[in-house]
Amino acid sequence: MAEYLIHEHDVLIIGAGGAGLRAAVEASAAGVEVAVISKSLLGKAHTVMAEGGIAAAMANVDDRDNWRVHFADTMRGGQYLSNWRMAELHAKEAPARVRELEAWGALFDRTNDGRILQRNFGGHRYPRLAHVGDRTGLEMIRTLQDQGVHLGFDVFMEHTIVKLLKDGERIAGAFGYDRERGRFHLFRAKAVVLATGGIGRAYTITSNSWEYTGDGHSLAYHAGAALMDMEFVQFHPTGMIWPPSVRGILVTEGVRGEGGVLRNRNGERFMFKDIPLLYVNQTANSEEEGWRYTQGDKDAKRPPELLTRDHVARCIRREVREGRGSPHGGVFLDIAWIKERIPNAVEHIKKKLPSMYHQFKQLADIDITQEPMEVGPTTHYMMGGVRVDADSQMSDVPGLFAAGECAAGLHGANRLGGNSLSDLLVFGQRAGGYAATFSQKNSLGDVDTAELRSAENWALQPFERKGSENPYAVQHRLQETMQELVGIVRQEDEMLRALDCIRDLRSARERVSVDGNREYNAGWHTALDLYHLLTVSEIVTKAALQRKESRGAHFRDDFPEKDKQFGLFNIAVRKGANGAMQFSHEAIPPMRQDLQQIIEEMK
Ligand code: FUM
Repeated sequence: MAEYLIHEHDVLIIGAGGAGLRAAVEASAAGVEVAVISKSLLGKAHTVMAEGGIAAAMANVDDRDNWRVHFADTMRGGQYLSNWRMAELHAKEAPARVRELEAWGALFDRTNDGRILQRNFGGHRYPRLAHVGDRTGLEMIRTLQDQGVHLGFDVFMEHTIVKLLKDGERIAGAFGYDRERGRFHLFRAKAVVLATGGIGRAYTITSNSWEYTGDGHSLAYHAGAALMDMEFVQFHPTGMIWPPSVRGILVTEGVRGEGGVLRNRNGERFMFKDIPLLYVNQTANSEEEGWRYTQGDKDAKRPPELLTRDHVARCIRREVREGRGSPHGGVFLDIAWIKERIPNAVEHIKKKLPSMYHQFKQLADIDITQEPMEVGPTTHYMMGGVRVDADSQMSDVPGLFAAGECAAGLHGANRLGGNSLSDLLVFGQRAGGYAATFSQKNSLGDVDTAELRSAENWALQPFERKGSENPYAVQHRLQETMQELVGIVRQEDEMLRALDCIRDLRSARERVSVDGNREYNAGWHTALDLYHLLTVSEIVTKAALQRKESRGAHFRDDFPEKDKQFGLFNIAVRKGANGAMQFSHEAIPPMRQDLQQIIEEMK
């Protein structure tokens, strides 16, 4: 007999960040029994790393904004690989989701006439980010948790799922363990929503904390769902780089939205040197014009620091490579300079960017009101994920839904800052609602006990092996491989080397052994996470090899131009019957005429 605790719910939500909590609120409100599984403690989610705001065309600061402009910005930012129906739903529904959050108690910054304040962010034509200083994600999580408490869904903290379970083709639940005692748990459910976030821990330098090992991507893939756009990994241009212990921690784009500028070691605003054709008509010609834009001058154009993240990250990399970087291998981000322009700048910075002020003061002994920060790119976000139906968020596996970062579609080749928080609100709500409906129409699926026994045996293997490999060492080697060979700038020979390394690391994983017992055994947990990390790393590398062009976050030194042909399809991957990865090019359906017209008008 396999030994495990059994739980039964209508809807099981794996992941307790913004998407998971929003889905849980929606499903509970529909009157079904809901459980939320959090790998970590409730409230500790990558959502809080989306600091600068929620993108929603509310037009509170600039009345020219509306859903059409947001739709066009998102499509352009995603280099036209985004699912246009998702981009439409997202742009139309985001304002209502923000107002709803406010009604549930979120305390947004205000305009002088008392409306929700919105700030500038990269790639957004107008000030669009509803924000709470630089703690927007945190406020969102707090609000959703409060709302959830009243709805009374079950929460399983510090639980990790290792396998999704199916009854025939449809989902039947999930199998995992609790980190505290190491006991196994069977979660039976009529519908499952994946909301596990991203894959940042596959890289050395990342804004993601330890939980983000691609679990949802890998669970879905192994359960037979298609993933797509996995070659598109976002490197946020500004992470901390010094001291080494804090390398990768996010420095919000809100700093640039508030007028912060990027300079190289020679003091040059290097972003002016290289404006992509796509944005040339929207970018300021002078420092003066860029400043006026950040101060709300509607006739001015955006400074080049507010170009899309893919572009800014590559420009920073170029400055460093060509010897114009800062002492610790980044560039300077300066908000202190605004003292030359506005009275009370010190108080203004502390009010607008309180977390950044404390973060740099406490972690780097830098006072950002007086001196520039040193920053460099950090792995931040995965655009690719589970391929879902745009309206319902259901994957290819009946009853399996995905929302937020682990779902693909909205962001295409590159996500605009702030579109993550609106994504998880809009599609978390949809996933929760559709999953609840699915659960009302279906009964619990059967679970195969032999499958549970085999999942349990598999999970316990690291204790039984007398292998020579340490799980942390294997993870470290994988991170260095991905960072060096499948990073911001890619080329074929390097990615082929990465695949060789991943193959070696796969066999190293099979020799990983751990000591001790099952209670809070972090080495054991890492050994299991490696399975997901290796799965997603191999998929990212193989998809990146297939895309022989440069587009959005995927830049190839050996194919530096965009190729029209590659704009016609998304790259998808499924697990074949023989267990091999099967890649396919899935044609992008022609855009609806009315949406096409919006894109044309906005050009
Ligand atoms: O820079 C930031 O505040 C991050 C926002 C995001 O990733 O959406």
